[in-house]
Amino acid sequence: MLNPMDCDTIWDNARLMTLACDADSLLIIERGLIAAKAGRIVYAGPRGDAPELNASQTIDCEDRLVTPGLIDCHTHLVYAGSRAVEWENRLAGASYEDIARAGGGILSTMNATRAAGETELMAQSRPRLDALIAEGVTTVEIKSGYGLDLATERRMLQVARSLGTACDVNVRTTFLGAHALPPEYAGRADDYIDLVIEEMLPQLAAEGLVDAVDAFCEGIGFTPDQTERVFEAAGRLGLPKKLHAEQLSNLHGAALAARHNALSADHLEYLDADGIAAMAQSGTVATLLPGAFYFTREQKLPPVAELRKADVPIAIATDCNPGTSPLTSLLLAMNMAATLFRLTVAECLAGTTRNAARALGLPDVGTLAPGKWADLAVWNVGEPAELVYRMGSNPLHARYWRGR
Ligand code: NIG
Ligand code: FE
Repeated sequence: MLNPMDCDTIWDNARLMTLACDADSLLIIERGLIAAKAGRIVYAGPRGDAPELNASQTIDCEDRLVTPGLIDCHTHLVYAGSRAVEWENRLAGASYEDIARAGGGILSTMNATRAAGETELMAQSRPRLDALIAEGVTTVEIKSGYGLDLATERRMLQVARSLGTACDVNVRTTFLGAHALPPEYAGRADDYIDLVIEEMLPQLAAEGLVDAVDAFCEGIGFTPDQTERVFEAAGRLGLPKKLHAEQLSNLHGAALAARHNALSADHLEYLDADGIAAMAQSGTVATLLPGAFYFTREQKLPPVAELRKADVPIAIATDCNPGTSPLTSLLLAMNMAATLFRLTVAECLAGTTRNAARALGLPDVGTLAPGKWADLAVWNVGEPAELVYRMGSNPLHARYWRGR
């Protein structure tokens, strides 16, 4: 006779969506049970199949749907200032690119972010993170890229790390020094890239502030050659890569990212067949950002049917940022992905759990299985579709991060 398995917490009477099964993301285990010890799952499955358990605490989920905690795998939520007036001008006809070229856009957020001290930056960013957390997000990626000098990029990444310490959430930091050309380097983009790869990245990586490296490969951002140099520098430091690719035009950034075995290529409205084939080959995740598509009133749809056909894993994120996606709801991002991009409910849920984990290179979150962190979202919904269907309501009943 085996001794009962010791654990800290049991969640009983769950309608359990583990998202662990690639083939059927919508599979629900009725009368499911999860057990965790020291924050890690030791069992997730039918109650009837569970080993004998000895827990200090049992939580009755009362037949609610339980999913992995949600993962927002692409945000720029640390920044200062507001771009509401710029947006008002866009309503009157100015384009995102016009504004960027006239020194507004990312550079206006850069000015506000450079001017904000750490406390101020933290205070302005915290409500955006709180909003995500309130909807069941347990892992969030946060990019730098509004400092564009060493001191401010460092401050952004430090604030991101501090937010992770202050809140019950796993923060992953991405260095996006190659986001825009700061004014002091006007006309000298290659020199700025030298600074990014020779000083900023090695220094910030040495300080332990960088989990991944990203760049904005675009006409108003950086060229493929410059992006390549950033990726080579990331490779020398052993850091994973991500890329803003094919958002406003097709510079073949996704194929470049795939060549570098990037974790993800993001946006992808202008992605072509070669890019899709390259991503399929390298296993690079396609992160779709429907908030940015919606907010910039983009007309070109990302090639979802082709991505699906090629078996490229699809993630969905908010892209929370002041210019193209002032969105702090991952649930609404899912709704937009379904409505605007025609993703299925199963794809939306996998896109904010299993595939989002993959887009961050995190093997221990995104599904509910033994060994994974006990990051759970408990929902007041009858059917999974309701999580994607609603707009602007929050059906979260409870959220657990690392078992607590
Ligand atoms: O993901 N594309 C570049 N970066 C952001 C927008 C940044 C901004 O406008 O502040 C994006 O869309
Ligand atoms: Fe972005």
